[in-house]
Amino acid sequence: MGKVDDIVIVGVGAMGKGIAQVCLLAGYNVTLMDIEAKIIENAISYIEKGLNKLEKKGKLPEEMKSADILAKMKKTTNLIEAVQDADFVIEAIIEKLDAKRKVCSDIIDNSPDHCIFASNTSSIRITDIAEGCGKPENVIGMHFFNPAPLMRLIEIIAGEKSSKKAMNIGVEVGESLPCLRGDRYVPRVLKDNPGFIVNRVLAPGRIYSDYIYDLADEKGIPWEQVDADISDPAAPMSTLVLADFVGRDVSLHTAEYYRETLSSDFKPGKVLKRQVVEGKLGKKTGQGFYNWSKGRPEPDLSKKAGIVNQLVFKAIQANEGCRILEEGVCKSWKVIDEAILAGMNFPGPMKSATKNYRQMAELLEEYSEKLGKSYLKPVELLKSGKFIDME
Ligand code: CAA
Repeated sequence: MGKVDDIVIVGVGAMGKGIAQVCLLAGYNVTLMDIEAKIIENAISYIEKGLNKLEKKGKLPEEMKSADILAKMKKTTNLIEAVQDADFVIEAIIEKLDAKRKVCSDIIDNSPDHCIFASNTSSIRITDIAEGCGKPENVIGMHFFNPAPLMRLIEIIAGEKSSKKAMNIGVEVGESLPCLRGDRYVPRVLKDNPGFIVNRVLAPGRIYSDYIYDLADEKGIPWEQVDADISDPAAPMSTLVLADFVGRDVSLHTAEYYRETLSSDFKPGKVLKRQVVEGKLGKKTGQGFYNWSKGRPEPDLSKKAGIVNQLVFKAIQANEGCRILEEGVCKSWKVIDEAILAGMNFPGPMKSATKNYRQMAELLEEYSEKLGKSYLKPVELLKSGKFIDME
């Protein structure tokens, strides 16, 4: 197995800074690279604050001091300089295929032969990112969940040309990264596909939620009431707070990507498109569904709009879970539930589907007609309940 000492994080915005922090906590030498110096400074102050807090709480790894860990951190705005001695690069730049493909190619061309390029894309196929680069066997996916220091899941994804060695190194690095809350869960995604496991299973839910947002917008229903309707009571953040937290631009780019790769039924809704045009991207711009100027919003969810059927979301997710089982993305419905719990902190749909699959399939027939979206039709594995045997 190749030894990894030097890790470079390319793109240290919302996701990259958290990834950099956990790499430092694991003891690696870490270079922070971004094209904007201001973003690097923000990332450094986030990391310093986080490490100092852990030091005060006595939660740093044994015998380590915040200052010693920070001494292992370097920064640069020059990509080529950043990667020339790198063993492992994690890319967390904008969620656009062209940009990721170019960065992948530049890094593979300018880093040592053994260097692994891991993309933290949240949805784009790794095979597409690696296309045209000199060593696609060294390219893998390494999908963290936001915030990376607190969310346990890291999906390790094999592109069509990724070598076994690159995958094994990816899993080894992933498992070495501490999580501030619980143990890491680092599943292998066995087949490259848009969205991998968690985002793929949750993806078609956006067909229904975009329908709800547009309906609420037409009827002038306040977002808090829609949020009260749409949120899973078991989730740690309400759905609209989470949507703002992730970023409406990220949602739009992903919806466009799913539209191209999965089905035209993923066409983004009117509200989503308008939010992005108006720069109402959520937390990062201070306004999305909610205003973030005073920190994380705490919406009053006591009044419901009465326009959402919660079981439809679970049915859509369970159906997509069955679809990826059919495709061979993973082998067991338990992996799907475990990954969703580790990446989103709410229960996955599959266990409840083992009891409710007939009702879910009927509901999907009804809603695929109602919304005019054939992608929502139940797949064979759900209708027959045969997925239950795939433990
Ligand atoms: N370094 C050190 N300490 C840190 C830290 C850091 N980087 N980040 C947080 N902490 C500390 C905090 O200071 C806090 O310490 P105290 O308890 O001493 O005050 C503690 O850790 C807990 O932090 P928070 O108070 O912020 O945590 P919370 O209890 O409010 O939970 C949350 C926050 C984990 C984010 C929770 O709200 C949650 O699970 N939300 C859902 C998040 C989610 O779904 N993420 C996935 C998004 S989708 C995605 O990422 C996929 C994609 O592809 C886009």
